Amino acid sequence: NTAALEKAIENSIAKGQKPFFVAATAGTTLLGAFDSIQAIAAIGRRYNLWVHVDGAYGGPVILSPKYRHLVRGIETADSFAMDPHKLMNIPLICSVLLVREKGRLRSNLTDLNTEYLYHENDHLNYDLGKISIQCGRRVDVLKLWLAWRFFGDTGYAKRTEKLIALARHARQRVQTHSRLELLAEPQSFAVCFRYRNRTPINPNDFNLQLRESLRRSGQALINYGYWNNNLALRFVAANPETETDDVDRLFDYLLAHATRMEEETQDGTNNCRNRTPS
Ligand SMILES: Cc1ncc(COP(=O)(O)O)c(C=O)c1O
Repeated sequence: NTAALEKAIENSIAKGQKPFFVAATAGTTLLGAFDSIQAIAAIGRRYNLWVHVDGAYGGPVILSPKYRHLVRGIETADSFAMDPHKLMNIPLICSVLLVREKGRLRSNLTDLNTEYLYHENDHLNYDLGKISIQCGRRVDVLKLWLAWRFFGDTGYAKRTEKLIALARHARQRVQTHSRLELLAEPQSFAVCFRYRNRTPINPNDFNLQLRESLRRSGQALINYGYWNNNLALRFVAANPETETDDVDRLFDYLLAHATRMEEETQDGTNNCRNRTPS
């Protein structure tokens, strides 16, 4: 909501504050939604703000010709962060921070009065200390470099596209079942939905119990969050080795648990926690 963003900036200026930074999210944690970077960057330019793109989660779309449009305008941002340890399957920790202006990190991080640590030498360009936020750190980028050499741009594009295809399959499962309800239109990797229970139990409580029943059964673990005060079960595609059959199995299990819970409530037993539907 860019109008709300402008209003917030104007309000803080009116209070004598000095807004200096705005972040657009490329793949929000709950919904996997993408902000309009172009619109936010335009506001950033108007108010002279540093424009950052948080692509920790959804950043890998940048390698996919099919979905790169989701981060249109990213080249105008001042900085961009991405976590290859999320959707690029790199072991923890592997976070990337890129800034548009070459030399920015060097001049603002450890270049200031650090002669006691870093000395001019032939290999200075390889000295990560000079361009890292932390002083001492592991060479986490090596993991990404090796994986990128292995998969290539095309391999990573395919993996990202597969994740979105899996999420679309999950969305389809939700849309084609009368008792499942989509809570927000998915844009990428996450599908937020809930079961519409017929029992006189608050839907948030029912869906939490449903998730718990599934978890205790050992059949599947699904995360949840809240969207507009509604408990949303969250299907998040993160592993491209997953197949549509796996997604189907998850939904079959979930529906079996929900049906059993409703039957038990109708029977008056309402003891749904520890049993696994066959
Ligand atoms: C949009 C977004 N930004 C930042 C983070 C922080 O991630 P981390 O602490 O792993 O770098 C997350 C984590 O889920 C996220 O989804």
